[in-house]
Amino acid sequence: MKDLRSRFGFHCTPFTREIENGERFPLAEYEDALSALLQTIEQRMSCALIAPAGTGKTSLLRAIVKRLPDARYRTHYVKVTGLSKRDMCREIAAALGLPPVGSYPSLVRKLQERFLETADTDGLRPVLILDEAHDLRVDVLAMLRVLTNFDMDSRLVLSIVLAGQPKLRDLLRREELDDVAKRLAHYATLRTLSRDETRSYLEHRCTIAGAQALPFDDGATDAIFEIGRGNLRATDQLARKSLEIAHEQDADMCGSAQVARARKHLWP
Ligand SMILES: Nc1ncnc2c1ncn2[C@@H]1O[C@H](COP(=O)(O)OP(=O)(O)OP(=O)(O)O)[C@@H](O)[C@H]1O
Ligand SMILES: [Mg+2]
Repeated sequence: MKDLRSRFGFHCTPFTREIENGERFPLAEYEDALSALLQTIEQRMSCALIAPAGTGKTSLLRAIVKRLPDARYRTHYVKVTGLSKRDMCREIAAALGLPPVGSYPSLVRKLQERFLETADTDGLRPVLILDEAHDLRVDVLAMLRVLTNFDMDSRLVLSIVLAGQPKLRDLLRREELDDVAKRLAHYATLRTLSRDETRSYLEHRCTIAGAQALPFDDGATDAIFEIGRGNLRATDQLARKSLEIAHEQDADMCGSAQVARARKHLWP
């Protein structure tokens, strides 16, 4: 029996999590959000990216890392889910190439020294990207003020990008986090796709994986939108599973029946 890729004419696996920078789905809003965040970082300020689960935050953060030239920026991407203050410092230290050891105050001091050194000596501007920041505890988020506050003049040595689900916005509205929220010069967001955009997205993801024709009929693309509601992650999962099911059934095309079965498999 043929394998899945050759059945649908893919030269690589479609609907993967990682996506090459040049292969991103070209939606104007995504590119606007990306440019606005990059511009804020270029101005040495901090920013936030707040959007629902599965709408493309991590992918956008990866695009930021790729777009900031290595010659000018030192970017550190950290997934920060559920960390204590000390854990957070250790993660940041590790990302900076520092030994992640010591007490919380000594770690903070080491980080501050390192950031200053980075800014003064090799001219590289440190950018700290904290993904999944909606899961951070309030006291851990409040710690970010310490990391950006050490330079006594108003110039910020470190740009922070906080990314997370809408819960992050509520967190940032808390009084204890007023100082952190004030330092965020730009808030970007991402939205789900419309029905037409979902279809274009499916076409795009199949095309970049090498397919000449869309392996989903109109019933399937509609069903994918009805179930996935234009959420990128859900769309990817449904598309991938439907293709697997069609392949198992020896069918060269996905219809709404395969999508319905995929849904049952994914979210029983
Ligand atoms: N611009 C894009 N073009 C094509 N595919 C994308 C794009 N952005 C995201 N995706 C795809 O959508 C899926 C979800 O994206 P991503 O993981 O970035 O979302 P997220 O907002 O970080 O989700 P979560 O909140 O669960 O972490 C991924 O499989 C990714 O490949
Ligand atoms: Mg993510």
